[in-house]
Amino acid sequence: KIEVKLAKCAGFCGGVKRAVILANKSADSGVYCLGDLVHNSVVMNELLDKGVKKIYDIENIKNSKVIIRSHGVHREIIKQLEENNNEIVDCVCKKVSTIYDIVNENYREGYNIIIFGDKNHPEVIAINSHCDDSALIIGDENEPLNLPEGKLIIVSQTTNNEEKYKKLINRIKDISKDEVLVYNTICSATKNRQQSASELAKEVDAMIVLGGKNSSNTKKLFEVSKKYCENVYLIESIKDFNYNILKKFNKIGITAGASTPDSVIKEAVSSMENFGNNEMMEAIENTFKKV
Ligand code: F3S
Repeated sequence: KIEVKLAKCAGFCGGVKRAVILANKSADSGVYCLGDLVHNSVVMNELLDKGVKKIYDIENIKNSKVIIRSHGVHREIIKQLEENNNEIVDCVCKKVSTIYDIVNENYREGYNIIIFGDKNHPEVIAINSHCDDSALIIGDENEPLNLPEGKLIIVSQTTNNEEKYKKLINRIKDISKDEVLVYNTICSATKNRQQSASELAKEVDAMIVLGGKNSSNTKKLFEVSKKYCENVYLIESIKDFNYNILKKFNKIGITAGASTPDSVIKEAVSSMENFGNNEMMEAIENTFKKV
C-alpha cells in the first residue's frame, strides 16, 4: 500500500476563510463578485450556484451589492462603486489592507515605495493604488535595480518567499544612499505552508500540490516542493489526475494552497489512501475511461 502524508500546514488560511464566510453570507442573485473571490474554482462555483454574478466591468453596476475579493482591487474601483451607490462586501484580507495603510502613510510622508511582487497580480495592483500607482515593482530578486532617488520603503506581496525577499532587501540596502525602511509583509500563513511543503517534499517520492492554476501561493508551494522532490504535480482537484503516474512511488505527499477548500484536500487524501488497493484502482481507472 502506498503511504500518503498530508503537509502539517495546508489549505485555507485565515484570510481566505473569512472571505469565503463573508461572501457566502451575502450571496444571492442580486449580488456581484468582481473577479474571482479567491483563485480557486471550487470556491467560486459555490458562489455562482447561489446566484452571484461574476463581473469584470463595473460601469453599469449601480445600487447593488458587490463582493471585493481577498486580494483587493485598485482603489479607484472602490471609489467608483461607492459613487454609484453600491454596497461593498469587503472581503479583502486584513493583512493585505494593512499593507495599503503602510504604503499610503509613508507615501504621504515623502517615501518612494518599492513593492516586491508580480506587477500583474491583483494584490500588487491594489497596493500600488495606495501610492497613486507610483511604486517601483520588482518581480525578481535578481533583476537589475534602477532605484528612485530619495528615501525608500520596501513591502512585499504577502505570498512571496522570505529568502528571496531578504536577498532583494540586502541588494537595495547596499545600493541606496538614502534611508531604507523595510516592512516584512509576507504572510505567516504562506510561510508556514511553504515550510511544511518543503519538509514533506524531502521525505516523499512524489508530491501533489492542490490549488488553482492562477493561485500565486499554490505556484510557490509547487516551486518549494520541486526544490526537494523531483516528482511534483500541481492539480486543481484529484479528479483531474491520472493515477497511473503514481504507480512507481511508495510515499506520496499532499499539500494545498491557501485558497484550497478542505473538501478538495479530504477527497485527495482518501483517494490516494485507497490507491494501493487494486479494486479501487480499477474502479478509478474505469471512471477515467468513462470520462
Ligand atoms: Fe491573507 Fe495571508 Fe491568507 S495575506 S488571504 S491570511 S495567505
